[in-house]
Amino acid sequence: MKQMKQLLVIFCLTMVLAACGSSETVSSTTAENNAPTAPSPSTEPAGDAANGEALFGQSCIACHGEGGVGIEGLGKNMTTSEFIRGMNDDEFLAFVKTGRPVGDPANTTGIDMPPKGGNPALTDAQLLDIIAYIRTLQE
Ligand code: HEC
Repeated sequence: MKQMKQLLVIFCLTMVLAACGSSETVSSTTAENNAPTAPSPSTEPAGDAANGEALFGQSCIACHGEGGVGIEGLGKNMTTSEFIRGMNDDEFLAFVKTGRPVGDPANTTGIDMPPKGGNPALTDAQLLDIIAYIRTLQE
């Protein structure tokens, strides 16, 4: 009798699994199932921070220092920057591509922030990686 019960349980489980399997195939045509399987949250930065760290080391660190803490007389501290905090990725990208020359009324140090940190070879994708990295430095 005990064996019968076990068999029944196994049978039921099999049916449930089969039902799940088939309902999946059926509903895969519905709009719900056509949604991306792993939606990335909108708060997630677009770039790759690990790659950005390497690029930051090549193009920004000379003025902004290790960990973006800034270097007196060269580049500003990024870790506490309200300006950076207030920008979305698009605005940040546009800023880095333009820079902030001494002649810009927004310039606070009397030192040039060169477009792309003076490295015109940097692509938008690479700059977004750098931006993702800089966001990890923010306090
Ligand atoms: C040649 C030195 C130099 C390099 C290289 C450089 N910067 Fe800058 N950056 C500056 C200076 C100077 C400022 C401050 C300008 C000012 O007075 O407002 C600045 C400001 C900034 C700001 C604005 C910070 C704030 O709070 O206002 C951002 C963002 C920034 N830099 C990003 C970058 C990124 C990203 C890179 C690398 C791609 C980079 N910088 C490379 C010199 C540099």
